Amino acid sequence: MRHAISINDFSAGEIYGDIVPGCKEMVGFAQKKKPKPYNPKKKVIYAFFEASTRTRGSYVEAARLLGWDRDVITGTEATSLSKKESIANTARMFALQGADVLVMRTKIEGAQRFAAEILEEEGYAISIQNAGDGTNQHPTQTFLDLLTILEKLGRLDDFKIGFFGDLKFGRTVHSLICALAHRKNIFVVLASPKETSLQEQYKRHFGHSRLQEGDSMEILKDCDIIYGSRIQEERFVGDLIALQRASEAFKITPEVLNGFKKDVLIMHPMPYVKEITPQVRKDRRIIIDDQAWCGIPTRIFLLEEGYKNRKKTTLLPTSECRLEILKEIPLEEYLNERKKRKGVNQYFIPINNGTVIDHIPQGLSIKMRNFLSGQGILHSGVKHLIEDVPSKTFGYKDVIVLEDIFLAKEVMIKISSLAPSVTFNIVKDETFEKIKATTSPIITGMGKCPNTNCITNHDPEAEPKFKHSDEELACYYCEKHFSREEVL
Ligand code: NCD
Repeated sequence: MRHAISINDFSAGEIYGDIVPGCKEMVGFAQKKKPKPYNPKKKVIYAFFEASTRTRGSYVEAARLLGWDRDVITGTEATSLSKKESIANTARMFALQGADVLVMRTKIEGAQRFAAEILEEEGYAISIQNAGDGTNQHPTQTFLDLLTILEKLGRLDDFKIGFFGDLKFGRTVHSLICALAHRKNIFVVLASPKETSLQEQYKRHFGHSRLQEGDSMEILKDCDIIYGSRIQEERFVGDLIALQRASEAFKITPEVLNGFKKDVLIMHPMPYVKEITPQVRKDRRIIIDDQAWCGIPTRIFLLEEGYKNRKKTTLLPTSECRLEILKEIPLEEYLNERKKRKGVNQYFIPINNGTVIDHIPQGLSIKMRNFLSGQGILHSGVKHLIEDVPSKTFGYKDVIVLEDIFLAKEVMIKISSLAPSVTFNIVKDETFEKIKATTSPIITGMGKCPNTNCITNHDPEAEPKFKHSDEELACYYCEKHFSREEVL
C-alpha cells in the first residue's frame, strides 16, 4: 500500500490479508505507549481542513510513538487555501517541505486522489492518506473499524450488521460497506430517515437477499453489530428542520437497547450527537471508546506502510485502452453471412467502403454524432444514423453508418469511452474487419462532474475523468455515480 485514498482501491487480499492483520500486530506496541527514539528523517504532515478529534489525535499519537517528525495544520484558515490557493499547489508545498506521508481531510471530494496523482507524476516520494473527503470515503476509519470487529467479535465473516442514522452523507458508512462486500455471509440492515438513506451505488454491493432497509430502529433487533452515524447537518441541503424531526427516532435509548441482541456490539465512528443517549453510554455493549482507541495501532501501521511504499508507482497508467480486432474476413464472405441472418438488411444498406459504428446504446447516437462533428470528421453529415434497431444483446441499439469515412485510433478510443459496448465494422479493400475496445477506458476530455463538491469543480488543474460502472458513469475523483446524460 502506497496511498490510502478509497477503500475501493484495495483488493480483498490487501484489506484482509495485509492491512487488518498488520494493524492488529501494532496493538501491543500502541498499548505499551513507549515511543521509539525521535527520527527526524521521517516526516508526516497532517492537513485537516475539516474538524477532527479522533482521526487527527490518533494519527498524532501514532507519529509520536513512531518517533516521527510531524506537523499538524488545522482548518483552511491556517493555510493559503483561505486566499484561494489551489489544492494542487497546497499539496505540492507539503511535498516540497519534506512530507513522506501527507494525511488530508477535506470537504472537497476527490482532493486526495488528485493530490496523489499530481505528486506521483511530479516524482515526489510521498504517501497520501485520506482522513475523509466530504461525503465520499474514509478508508483509514474502515481499517480501524475492521480491527475493532476482529478484536471484539473474533471474526470478519458471518454476521449481520445494521447501520443507522445518516447513511447518505456518512463517509465512514460508505467505506465500511464497500469493504464488507468482500466477505462471506454478511447481511446488511439499513435504518435511516428517507432524507439520509444510502445511495444505490453502495447498496448494489449486496444483493436483495443480503440487504434489508427500513425507517425504524426495530429492524436492527437481530443484528450482531450495530453501527451509528451522526446526521451530517453541515452537508445537508434541504429542509433541516424536517430532517431533525425525522432523525429523532434514530437513537439508542435503554428501551431500544433492550430490543437488541444481548451480546450486540454497538459501534460509532463518533462524534455522536443524539444517537447514543447518556443513559446507555456506559453499557458494556457500546464499544465506541475501544473502537476509537483502535485508531492508534491502525494509524501506526498505515504511517509505516505508506512510508515503506512511498516510491511505488500506483496511479499512472489509468487511461490505457486496447483496441482488438475481433474478426477479419473477405467482404464477400461477410455479405453472404449477413444475407443468411434474418431482418438485418431492412435497417441499413451495407457499404463497400467506410465504417459502421455498431452496438451504440439506444439514444446515444446523437451525442456520438455531435462528437464526430466536433472532431471535424463529419463534413457533410452522417450518411445513415439509425436508431432503435432490435438487438439480441441490448433489446434495442443505435447504429451510425459512415460511408467513405475511417476513424483514427484515438477517435475510436474516445467513442469506446463514451460507450464501451460499441464495435467498429470497417469495410476497406474488399475486407471486413470488426474492432472493439477490450478494456473499459477512462473518459477524459469531455463531460463535467455534476457534484459541486468534486475537486474537478474546485481546482483548475483537475480535469474531469469518469469510469464506467454498469450503465452509469462514476467520477474518477469524487466516486459519485451519474447517468451518461447528467455527465455529458
Ligand atoms: C467521522 C468523520 O469525520 O467522518 N468521524 C471520524 O472520523 N471518526 C464521523 C462524523 O463526522 O460524523
